[in-house]
Amino acid sequence: MQLHEKIPNNVDLAGDRKLLRALEHWQPSFLEWWQTMGPESFQATDVYLRTAISVDSAGWAHFDYVKMPEYRWGIFLAAPEPDRRIGFGDLMGQAVWQEVPGEHRNLLRRLIVTQGDTEPASVEQQRLLGKTSPSLYDLRNLFQVNVEEGRHLWAMVYLLHRCFGRDGREEAEALLARRSGDPDRPRILGAFNAPIDDWLSFYMFTMFTDRDGKYQLVALAESGLDPLARTTRFMLTEEAHHMFVGETGIRRIVQRSCELTRKAGDRGARAEGGIDLPTLQKYINFWYSVSLDLFGGEISSNAAEYFACGLKGRANEKKFEDHLALEGVYRMVVPEGGGLRETDVPLRNAMNEVLRDAYIDDNQRGVDMWNKTIVEHGIDFKLSLPSRRFNRRIGIYADLSFTPEGEPISKEEFERRREEWLPSESDRSYVKSLMQPVFEPGKMANWIAAPTKGIDGKPLTFEYVRLA
Ligand SMILES: [Fe+2]
Ligand SMILES: [Fe+2]
Repeated sequence: MQLHEKIPNNVDLAGDRKLLRALEHWQPSFLEWWQTMGPESFQATDVYLRTAISVDSAGWAHFDYVKMPEYRWGIFLAAPEPDRRIGFGDLMGQAVWQEVPGEHRNLLRRLIVTQGDTEPASVEQQRLLGKTSPSLYDLRNLFQVNVEEGRHLWAMVYLLHRCFGRDGREEAEALLARRSGDPDRPRILGAFNAPIDDWLSFYMFTMFTDRDGKYQLVALAESGLDPLARTTRFMLTEEAHHMFVGETGIRRIVQRSCELTRKAGDRGARAEGGIDLPTLQKYINFWYSVSLDLFGGEISSNAAEYFACGLKGRANEKKFEDHLALEGVYRMVVPEGGGLRETDVPLRNAMNEVLRDAYIDDNQRGVDMWNKTIVEHGIDFKLSLPSRRFNRRIGIYADLSFTPEGEPISKEEFERRREEWLPSESDRSYVKSLMQPVFEPGKMANWIAAPTKGIDGKPLTFEYVRLA
């Protein structure tokens, strides 16, 4: 452990002068990026944050007040597995790589850059949110997510510098040069280019879009490139908190919505300043469908190649019996002549879909929790995930129109009914109108219920962020 170095790390940076110099050279650019693109108006504020100080399960999280620009962004890899072997694909059983094999250099670089790009992108998307936080508790959670996405950028930049020489250095600089939503130098993936400027969207993002990130990391944690696998394993421990923020954030809105619905009767939750359940459903439809797109096409030769070469596995590869996936097929519903037809796709070509399935199940578990809250309030409404065909921009369902139940419809019908299914301008402006900051310790905005407990065993009235 080198915790007190300029760059805290457990990868013995001090023992690799060249790598250390390269990263120390990148560090001021990162800090400058953080100052200009990180959370606006809160850079000098003390925030009660968790900092990673070691990777063992007992002691990796240390809590204290920190000013965000002074956060100790470090490089941490999960402990190595002795004699680790590639667990899938054509190279199954061979020793994992500590260095990038020349023949996989381009694919691996693309995987790492694409993952890395999402990390600063989300910080940029969320940079104005703090000003309208519904509570100090939520404000602190937002900043925790933001600094950890910054650390994930460090994690990917470490790999680029360590494994890709000069190309890696250039990619690391480019990661700080692109900007979310910039027409000339946008972030790589579509979903990371729209601002997230209301809190409902923030919870939806951390529930659905961060969870795509989780599944990408879970698949990369199987990678034959050992430093990549170990990096992503540690990132996943932080990622779990981001999804907690999303899932419980929406649960709290659902709870409040139910309380206000009961109070308002026929007038509906909006009459009491809440977010009504039908509006929540529309936000779910939107964020879930754009997040599904992040898994890529249903039938993908890239995905087959990643799997064949041992670069990217399935979620928890060990629980599968057949790690070659050469014989199997995946039964898929494909559009044909205005209708739908089932067909068998060679399993390796369906790897994106296999990962998407695991993701969908995980989301459903969260939706079930929200519905439990609705039932507890005796309200007759059920939230649901739309069909995976609904509102897609990527893959075999893109450019076609489907209802949330997955029935094919004409483009005209979709457009006619769009505002039934997706947030309208007026829904968005209503939600935005609720976004007024509540900065008194222990107090919550009217549209969201209090969490069941505080952070790090602290009470809800704790001053999670010390505003001047
Ligand atoms: Fe991340
Ligand atoms: Fe995240």
